Formats: sequence, C-alpha cells, structure tokens
Amino acid sequence: MLIEIPVLTQQAAAALRARLLERDWESGAVTAGHQSVHAKRNHQLPADDPVAGELGEALVAAWGRIPSFVAAALPRRVFPPVFSRYRPGDRFGSHVDNAIRHFHGGSIRTDLSATLFLTPLDQYDGGALLIEDRFGPRRVRLEAGTMVLYPSSSVHAVEPVTRGERIAAVTWMQSLVRDDGQRSLLLELDQAIQSLSAQAAGAPAVIALTGIYHNLVRRWADL
Ligand code: NI
Repeated sequence: MLIEIPVLTQQAAAALRARLLERDWESGAVTAGHQSVHAKRNHQLPADDPVAGELGEALVAAWGRIPSFVAAALPRRVFPPVFSRYRPGDRFGSHVDNAIRHFHGGSIRTDLSATLFLTPLDQYDGGALLIEDRFGPRRVRLEAGTMVLYPSSSVHAVEPVTRGERIAAVTWMQSLVRDDGQRSLLLELDQAIQSLSAQAAGAPAVIALTGIYHNLVRRWADL
C-alpha cells in the first residue's frame, strides 16, 4: 500500500532545505547496493555530516508524533534519514532496496521505504518516484513537506530531473508488523474504528473492535 502523509509545512520544508544546501554533498554511489550502483546518479549528504544527523533525528522524532504515520508504519526502528539531491540528468534507475541496512546504531530489516519531498513542485521538472504497486506503476511527485510510504519490496525508480533541483529525505523502517498485507488491514481497521468512535464514542462495539485491533497486533507484531 502507498500512503501519503503531510509531515512538514512548506515553510518548515524550505527552512530545512536551506540548511541542507549549505553542506558538502557526495556522490550517491557511496551507499548504493550491488544492483543499484550502476543505476544511481545523484548526490547525498554523508552519513557523518553533523547537520544532516541533527536534522534527520529531528525529523524522525517529529514523525513519531504524527498519529497517521504511526498508524500506517507501526515503526519499530527508523534508519537515519538520508538527504538526496537530483539535478538535471540525475536519476535512480529501477531497483529494489536492500533487505537489511546497517548504521552506527545497529541494523534494520527494511519493511517500509519513505521519501519526504522537500522541494516545491514548481521548482523542478521530472524527478517523480515511480513505484510498482500491486495495481501497476504509480508515479509519485508530492508537494514539499509531504512523505510517501511504500513497501520496501516494491521495484521503484526516480525518473530523471530535467530542470531545477529535487531535494528529498529518504529512509527505511523496520515495522512491528513485517507483512504489508497485515499492516494494511490494521490501518484500515484503525481508520474504521476512528471514524466509528467519532459518532459513537464508548459504544460496546467500538470497545470490542478496539480490542480486536490490539489482539491482531499481539498476534502479528515482533519486538
Ligand atoms: Ni530505493
């Protein structure tokens, strides 16, 4: 399932982008996997850049306070966000993300991939994230401050940028619930319970459904 979540105002995205652009960028080939090293042409901030680290930590903390993000991702561990920059001619051909990613704090299994778009849409052309979904390819190009979450098992690509500059934060998450189908069901159940409780808070059926939600999490979550 592909899920779009607004996480920053456009002003906050602009402030973040301004700080990122002052840093020294390196070739994105540094962190590409075996399959993707030939397909990847962009720049990113080094993992040890202190400003990137600080801004990435702030983003992860902010996401944890957004109910729709928590409900959709059921995050257990989030990889420190990587800030990427695509200029005209840059692209990232079709690939699947590595199943395990290592960082200074340990390793995660990548269940979900995320891209937070940081550049206003009128400031660049191209650069869409192309994701192979169950229902066919989806082209995702979102306003600055909006994030897309998608299963890390999907084949995906970043189409060439043809004008301007596309800045984004990308990351990967290990979810409490590994399976995308189970996670999607939990999200749909959660949304149905939220809408039902708006009309009938405290009704026995709402309490029962909430119990079912938590009992499914108990069955499916790994800690
Ligand atoms: Ni990727």
